[in-house]
Parts: sequence; structure tokens; C-alpha cells
Amino acid sequence: MSRSVTVIPGDGIGPEVTAAVLRVLDAAGARLDYDEQVAGETALRYQGSPLPQETLDSIETNRVALKGPLTTPSGSGFRSINVAIRKEFDLFANVRPVRTILPGGRYEDIDLVLIRENTEGLYVGVEHFIGMENDPKAAAESVMITTRYGSERIVRFAFDYAVANGRRKVTLAHKANILKHTQGLFLEVGQRMADDYADRVAFEDRIIDATAMFLVLDPYRFDVLVMENMFGDILSDLMAGLVGGLGFAPAGNIGETHAVFEAVHGSAPDIAGQGVANPTGLLLSACLMLDHVGQEGVAGRIRGAVSAVIRDGVARTRDMGGTDGTAAFAEAVVGGVG
Ligand code: NAI
Ligand code: MG
Repeated sequence: MSRSVTVIPGDGIGPEVTAAVLRVLDAAGARLDYDEQVAGETALRYQGSPLPQETLDSIETNRVALKGPLTTPSGSGFRSINVAIRKEFDLFANVRPVRTILPGGRYEDIDLVLIRENTEGLYVGVEHFIGMENDPKAAAESVMITTRYGSERIVRFAFDYAVANGRRKVTLAHKANILKHTQGLFLEVGQRMADDYADRVAFEDRIIDATAMFLVLDPYRFDVLVMENMFGDILSDLMAGLVGGLGFAPAGNIGETHAVFEAVHGSAPDIAGQGVANPTGLLLSACLMLDHVGQEGVAGRIRGAVSAVIRDGVARTRDMGGTDGTAAFAEAVVGGVG
């Protein structure tokens, strides 16, 4: 039985890496049917809306989507479609594993998972300018929202994830020393919930800035990390840097009923259209999707092939220090999944 999933190639390097990923999925025998939809700049250009109703309907029906990166204008213009999709389907948990594949980096054998709260915090987008005298932008305000409900479900998700995946420790990273209410509530929820898991998973809390420093200095002291939306956005790029960059980092946005899988990286306009992007981030995101729909065996074969191709230098893209393009890299992986 084939599983129907929504596929959104996205903007910039999105269509290039998506084509590479679909090629590998087919070669590996993934039992998937693709319902291709548009979003982002591409959708705005061709359909007049960055998030067409048809795309939302497709995700609603299929409950699972694989999404390429979507360009979001900075400072003005339409609001992030990525954030809109996460809110629309209440995809409250953003799971971002980072693992060493490319040898010879700053560290070997990195194996960490960041769990980012995906629906609250500073990214709720409650913002406005305050005008004074002749300056309509004399000041600007943003609201950070933390609810007990939202904190409990993301922290519980992190602990349950740790238990289910045989992880030893959860670190809650926060800024409760300065943001005593919003971050204080998040910390309090975490400390309470840790008691329920005390016999199975260790717990610690750490201030976010020190967490950033220790991640660079000694990443091995961490295992699973859980934090507020913006902190998770920033630290997940930092953690991608520990294993060779954004090209290697996958993610799953998980809700009670729906899930959208995407790479951590954006649309990379600096290299778009050149056929040189590393498809590994989206490919490993597709593996998370395969796990999610019960096709773990296929996911395992793809992960094995990706690791072998990169480790043995069968093919490497530019960000790995190689000269292979996106499609050539995908063909090398295809050669390993048979
Ligand atoms: P970016 O992640 O697109 O690129 C940052 C750097 O990493 C660039 O030098 C890029 O060439 C490199 N890079 C990224 N992915 C790569 C890959 N697969 N292979 C090789 N190199 C890769 O971040 P940037 O430039 O800050 O953002 C570009 C656009 O993407 C913005 O409009 C932003 O809003 C959007 N974005 C979308 C995301 C999403 O759809 N989930 C996530 C992050 C950014
Ligand atoms: Mg980001």
C-alpha cells in the first residue's frame, strides 16, 4: 500500500534538492504517492498567494508533507509561510537531530537532538510600531507568549522522545534569569515534569547563552535539548555547524495529527539554480518522514547509503569540500540503496 504525501518543492534551491530526494526515495523503494503543491514566492508568482488554499487542503487530507525551503522577505512583505503552516496544523514540536556524517570536521561522533517549541514564544508575530511626533517608527514592540499548556506539551514531548529513543538526558535551555515570567514559566514546567521521568531520563536546566558556549566547547555534554521557539531556531543552526553546516540538518514539524518534514536550511539564494546544493538535509528529513509513516526499513537503507557515500568520498557536494553537483550526489546515493 502506497502512502499519499504532499510535496512542496519550494523556492531557491528547493526544486533542485527536492528532485534529488524524490529520485532517491523512488530508487530505495519508498511506498509513497506524491501530491505536488506550491507555496512561498513560487506560489505568489504563479497563483497570487504565498499559501494557496489548495496546498493547505492537500496537507489537511494527507496529514504528512515534505516541504522544500520557502523564501520569506525580511523587514516587510508577507509573513513567514513556514510559521503559518506550523500554526495552521498546530505542529508544536520541531525535532532537529544533528549527527556527524562527514568525517574530519571540528568534532567526530556528534549525536544530538534539539526539540524546539514551534507555536509560541517570540515568533507568534504580535508586533507593532509606536509612532511619536513625526516618526511613525519611533519604537517597536514584540510580545513573547508562553502558556502552561504549550510549555507542558513541548517538554513532555522532549521527555517522551528521550524515553522512546533511548536517550539519557534532557537539557532545558532558557533565559529565566532575565525573562522571569515567560521563560520562568517554561522552566518551572520543565522542573516539575522532570520528576515524572526521574527514573528514566536525567534532567538539567541551563541558561541559553551558556548553552551556546558549551555546545561549541564541549557538545558531548548534551543529548536532547528543549527550548523556546526563537532560541531553538538560533541554536539549531549552531548545532548544524557542529556537523559541517546547514546542508546536513533535517527537521520534522510534528503535531497531534499532522506532520511536515523539511530541512533546517532556507532557500539559499546565493547558490540557487546552480545545481550545487547539498540535498542531504532534505533527504534526511524524508527519512524522518518515512519513520513517521512506518517505513523505517527504507529510511534505514537511505541513511546507510548517504553515510557511506559521504564517508567514503564516493560523491561530495561543494559544502563537503567536493566537486559533485546535487544530481550527481543523488545518483551516488541511488547506487548505494539497491
Ligand atoms: P539559508 O539557510 O538559505 O542559507 C545560509 C547559507 O547556507 C548560505 O550560504 C547557503 O548557500 C548555505 N546553504 C543552505 N542550504 C544549503 C545546502 N543544502 N547546501 C549547501 N549550502 C547550503 O539561509 P538564508 O540565506 O539566511 O535565508 C534565505 C531564505 O530562506 C530567507 O528568505 C529565509 O527566510 C528563508 N528560510 C526558510 C526556511 C524554511 O523554509 N524552513 C528556513 C530558513 C530560512
Ligand atoms: Mg532557522
